[in-house]
Amino acid sequence: MIEIAPSMLAADMLHLEDDLLDLRKNQIKTLHFDVMDAHFVPNLSFGPALCKAVHGAFPEYFLDVHLMMDNPEKLLDSFIHAGASSITVHAEVLDDAKPILSRIRAAGVQCGISVKPGTDVTSICELLPMLDRVLIMTVEPGFGGQKFMESQLEKIVWLRKRGYTGKIAVDGGVNMENMERICSVGADVLVMGTAFFKADDRSAVVQKVKDMA
Ligand code: DX5
Ligand code: ZN
Repeated sequence: MIEIAPSMLAADMLHLEDDLLDLRKNQIKTLHFDVMDAHFVPNLSFGPALCKAVHGAFPEYFLDVHLMMDNPEKLLDSFIHAGASSITVHAEVLDDAKPILSRIRAAGVQCGISVKPGTDVTSICELLPMLDRVLIMTVEPGFGGQKFMESQLEKIVWLRKRGYTGKIAVDGGVNMENMERICSVGADVLVMGTAFFKADDRSAVVQKVKDMA
């Protein structure tokens, strides 16, 4: 089943409730929550307070939290208590990811690992049995609206060849033109910021994902 995960980073912050209601109108159940710390990535986005507010107003949404931050353990409990459904941390900021992944799972929250374009996907090999999802960055993390990096698709091929059966999400530059190619190699979650929230016709984006399923 192919899933669209709109990235809130691209939503209209001054009309956020309208944009989040639009997900409901389009029967979208997942919201991708891009947390940036202006340290691990050169941008600052939003934190647990907004996550809690969104969860309170839209409790039915699966909140797919993507921590693009150093020291993710510092905000882990805050996001768990804010209502995160899944928490993905970056392989690059952890010497040993197992403790934090276990903490996330122990809280009844799904866990994921993300790798930047320059990170070898084989580096997360021994974590695969613990993961509910792997998030493949197809842009350098930090900003929406960047160009999709086709080269990253080989990481998805490697994961599926390795027998990984969890979710594979793709984040960065995903759009109506490349989504079929992305799913053809084994991805099943499409993180879409610009291509969804800035689309002229959001329902057409949703329909295309449905038609691919
Ligand atoms: C990068 C962000 C973006 C965002 C998606 O750090 O994670 O990938 O969510 O942005 P678009 O879909 O606009 O490329
Ligand atoms: Zn993301």
